[in-house]
Amino acid sequence: MCGIIGYLGERNINEVILRGLERLEYRGYDSCGICVVCNGKLEYKKIEGRLHKLKEMLARDPLAGNIGIGHTRWATHGVPNEINAHPQFDCKKNIAVVHNGIIENYHTLRQWLSSRGHQFISDTDTEVIPHLIEEYYHGNFLAAVQHALPLLEGTYGLAIITTYEPNKIFVARRGSPLILGIGTGGEFIVASDATAIIDWTRKVTYLSDDEIVVIEKGNYFITNSKNETIIKDTEEVLMDLAEIEKGGYPHFMLKEIFEQPETITNTLRGRILKDNNQVRLGGLETEIIIDDKKIKAKDYLVNVDRIVISACGTSWHAGLVGEYLLESLARVPTEVEYASELRYRTMIKLPNMAVFVISQSGETADTLAVLRKAKEMGIPVFGIVNVVGSTIARETHAGIYLHCGSEIGVASTKAFTSQVAVLTLLSLFLAQRRNILHDTVRHEIVSALLRIPTQIELILRKKDEIKRIAEKYHTFNNFLYLGRGINFPVALEGALKLKEISYIHAEGYPAAEMKHGPIALIDKNMPVVVIATDTDDIIYEKVLNNIEEVKSRGGNTIIIATEGNTGICRLADEVIYVPKTKDILTPLLNVIPLQLLAYYIAVKRGCDVDKPRHLAKSVTVE
Ligand code: M6R
Repeated sequence: MCGIIGYLGERNINEVILRGLERLEYRGYDSCGICVVCNGKLEYKKIEGRLHKLKEMLARDPLAGNIGIGHTRWATHGVPNEINAHPQFDCKKNIAVVHNGIIENYHTLRQWLSSRGHQFISDTDTEVIPHLIEEYYHGNFLAAVQHALPLLEGTYGLAIITTYEPNKIFVARRGSPLILGIGTGGEFIVASDATAIIDWTRKVTYLSDDEIVVIEKGNYFITNSKNETIIKDTEEVLMDLAEIEKGGYPHFMLKEIFEQPETITNTLRGRILKDNNQVRLGGLETEIIIDDKKIKAKDYLVNVDRIVISACGTSWHAGLVGEYLLESLARVPTEVEYASELRYRTMIKLPNMAVFVISQSGETADTLAVLRKAKEMGIPVFGIVNVVGSTIARETHAGIYLHCGSEIGVASTKAFTSQVAVLTLLSLFLAQRRNILHDTVRHEIVSALLRIPTQIELILRKKDEIKRIAEKYHTFNNFLYLGRGINFPVALEGALKLKEISYIHAEGYPAAEMKHGPIALIDKNMPVVVIATDTDDIIYEKVLNNIEEVKSRGGNTIIIATEGNTGICRLADEVIYVPKTKDILTPLLNVIPLQLLAYYIAVKRGCDVDKPRHLAKSVTVE
């Protein structure tokens, strides 16, 4: 949730740390801080609020030094203010700590440390860390860190500097991501994710849980609390810098919405064989070990009797679309569970089952907890993840990457469509291996899937029309989103997009459920967004009835309909047309106008679209 960074080298420390924090700001943005070692002393600045304020402060009064750490915060313990901002210090301000994660036993530790004479000034859980290290410091700083860390319960990514050993940065992780970048000329940069590193180097080492790294000029070593030596390989980050810039768009969210024709193409690339339209998923070629036997992931999955998908937020919505796809195309019984719930529920292991975890960031704490729980139970776990090298990607038995590029906007857009595209490929793959779909039907679906990027371009051309509708409705305080079948999760996703970036209350509902309660809410003050694209079954007719029910109660309707369906106009205050595709692919098109509608409403209301209040891109705490 928070972003942390550490730098050791000859460059301007203010510039490197601020640039890194800018890249990490999407992880949390309620306060921020920087601390450097200067002439053997710790000097720092921290503020409540956004990074630009810190930037202005440093422009007036820069810090000097070759070793520093920085932090951008998403508050868990203690309100966002200057005192609770990181770094946090020990009593004598000899130890500065920036932290991502939650220390769950901080209360007990704080009481004990207080009884030993330590004085606390913040409300944070983090503050116990420098005090604990101070308590155990007797001349060897690494030994003090090694003593303190096993006493912490919870999660942490840490970067620590100290006057006791002013030429070093100490870094440690448990449950929060950290990457060490190895630059040229003996410089190092450590950060919560690679976006903060690639300006300076692409050579990195991904840290694993319970590792401690000690960095000094031209040298680093990895150890742990038992003082064991750990040798790790370095890797190259392939991310493109353009991916993490706005590229002329006013917001990352808009850029990412407009990237979708290209990102879906990238997700599909190389996964559909040209000569026979068969699906091939390279990630499932991996050999996994089940019951002491080696088997290719794809061969295990072909025989599963049950799939459990687990995820959070938008990824959970993609999972719900996946449930329809896997059941209708591949006939695999599928359940979709919120990771935050499943992690504390009794998970039942059945023979021939698989768990799929879906995550854009690959770092969501609840999703990771489900992954670990399932693995402990001996259930094979597969990932559908965007961020290469993320914790979830590394810990699953095998998986399928989204390849949709960095998603920076806090509201997920392009990751959703790529997740749905991957779930479509997975369903087609299992259907083909299980001989369920007739070849002609499979060819039709694959051809339609390959047309989706061009069709999304056509929808994006309607942006001005959608903007006009947004401007008409931006003052309303409640919205209802209705969809049925495979488009019910799209209604949920449309409502989530609106509420998270515009702070308008919005609910997604299965259209036919409306009459079991929410219909009482319908009046002229409740715009109802209805997904009513043509389908070849009876569902479309049923949705029309639901729209009639809204209209007859004075509701305003904004209808997503299939191009050419002029008849729908009689029921609609507004219609947004999308091109015709196969029923099961409609979520890939229908979500696009809903993303744009939410975006333009939020902009019109003056909201900070890329950094909505109280949110963070990557939810790495419970
Ligand atoms: O990185 P993940 O896909 O695991 O993130 C899951 C949710 O936190 C995320 O989708 C969140 O709901 C977004 N803000 C939705 O736009």
